[in-house]
Amino acid sequence: MKILIAYTSKHGTTKRCAEMLSDKLRGACEVTVLDMNAGEAGAPSEYDMVVLGSSVRMGRISKKIKKYIKANIDSLKSMPCAVFLCCGFPDEFDEYIRTELPKGFVPSFDVYCFGGELKPEKVKGVERLLVKMIRNSITEHDFEDGNYKGMLPEILPEHISILADKILNR
Ligand SMILES: Cc1cc2nc3c(=O)[nH]c(=O)nc-3n(C[C@H](O)[C@H](O)[C@H](O)COP(=O)(O)O)c2cc1C
Repeated sequence: MKILIAYTSKHGTTKRCAEMLSDKLRGACEVTVLDMNAGEAGAPSEYDMVVLGSSVRMGRISKKIKKYIKANIDSLKSMPCAVFLCCGFPDEFDEYIRTELPKGFVPSFDVYCFGGELKPEKVKGVERLLVKMIRNSITEHDFEDGNYKGMLPEILPEHISILADKILNR
């Protein structure tokens, strides 16, 4: 089975998730991993399955991923297709699906939250400050009831495995 995993990633989390998924599929499938900021994805018809990955920034998913979905919506709706999102606020995941995916687009293999990272050392300039502020607001909020629950986001390997298993068992 030929699979395209196309993603965009600003600071590397979505890229890492795309590679983790690809590692689980390689051997059983012919996998192409494509950074959509570096090259154009071909038509979905060139593949047996398309997986699209985007991070969420300021409540928005990648314009390139959205554009690709809109341009190929009929093909993507009628073939094996999955979407994964990386985000710092997994609680908002359903809202991101509702507001960010084109109306009527329900990929046959579903939409997954692969978690996210908020690591200031990976981010430069004013965004580093923003990441620090978000981290602080999460940890302060966590401490409000006196118990730190460790809610800083992380990549969720178990969610990556769920999608990989679904693909391998199709
Ligand atoms: C400038 C900036 C804005 C962000 N905005 C959001 C947001 O609106 N919602 C969210 O859930 N996560 C947000 N995040 C967290 C990112 O989704 C998270 O860091 C993710 O791991 C980034 O993936 P990437 O490195 O592949 O771009 C933001 C991160 C940054 C740096």
